[in-house]
Amino acid sequence: MRDEPLVLGIETSCDETGVGIVRGTTLLADAVASSVEEHARFGGVVPEVASRAHLEAMVPTVRRACDTAGVALSDLDAIAVTHGPGLAGALLVGVASAKALALSLGTPLYGVNHLAAHVAVDQLEHGPLPEPSLALLVSGGHSSLLRVADITGGESGVVPLGATIDDAAGEAFDKVARLLGLPFPGGPHIDRVAREGDQVAIDFPRGLTSRRDLERHRFDFSFSGLKTAVARWVEARERSGEPVPVADVAASFQEAVCDVLVRKALDAAAAEGIEDLMIGGGVAANSRLRALAEERASRLGIRVRVPRPGLCTDNGAMVAALGATMVARGRAPSPLDLPADSSLPVTDVLAG
Ligand code: KG4
Ligand code: ZN
Repeated sequence: MRDEPLVLGIETSCDETGVGIVRGTTLLADAVASSVEEHARFGGVVPEVASRAHLEAMVPTVRRACDTAGVALSDLDAIAVTHGPGLAGALLVGVASAKALALSLGTPLYGVNHLAAHVAVDQLEHGPLPEPSLALLVSGGHSSLLRVADITGGESGVVPLGATIDDAAGEAFDKVARLLGLPFPGGPHIDRVAREGDQVAIDFPRGLTSRRDLERHRFDFSFSGLKTAVARWVEARERSGEPVPVADVAASFQEAVCDVLVRKALDAAAAEGIEDLMIGGGVAANSRLRALAEERASRLGIRVRVPRPGLCTDNGAMVAALGATMVARGRAPSPLDLPADSSLPVTDVLAG
């Protein structure tokens, strides 16, 4: 529909320069330039390298998105940008670019929350998000359970029910992959290798699921104990001189993570009386997580929405999707002196 807002979204919170263009909930372009290969040899993202790569990639990526969508910059109704959370220097590149575009085009600017954008992106595939929804947000930096009554924010729009108390789920995937000699980022490699392995070969611990832990941390996660357990198991194997069964370790580790994520998400949905579970963030690309969530949720009559893997990892389309929802709901744009906020809380969905 022509009267739906045409929005360009910019994402630079980590190592992906993402520029997406949407019209309402229709995806027109999703251009991503990743600097991941420049970080691989360090085993993690190097902030200064990421910022520099964003600077170099920004203009070509904006051009590529416009070409793919078949639109001119002057057609745009609004610019949306991730203004947090993420790496400060990386965020600054996106925020400065978005301000320059908004100012020169005379369009409104929406500074949005990266985490809420991971939830909003699903609208591009499955239509408007049912509200309330229960969102399981699992990425390299965050693992949270959220009650989403209004994805554009406001009071009680996004309410955190629980979060990780140590490592994020994606971080656990990346650390265990490293231990197994798999490349960075490790999530997709564990996912691939685990397909050849036995998920019940090793009984790794399920963090924060004992009766005592559930009293205080019913909807919280912990993955650092699991990571240590995998490290100990692998060390013991190496000491014994026997080969490490990489596929079995990967599959058993992945099962431990996915089991806890799905168990707690469904428990939270039941506790909140919510029948729609949305899974977002890079780890939502995991094939076992998607299958296990579907299988267990269908038994409880809970509907599951997960975007296709390419929209789960960081991209600009998710920012454009959230921006378009802001415009559609008549939310006031952000000021042009909008700051980058590396530790923006998940409850702050739109910079006011
Ligand atoms: O959302 P994202 O692209 O960036 C952050 O906001 O952090 O998430 C990146 C994380 C990385 O830790 C990566 O290993 C993980 O998502 N990831 C996966 C898979 N694809 C990406 N983890 C498990 N299985 C996957 N298939
Ligand atoms: Zn992300």
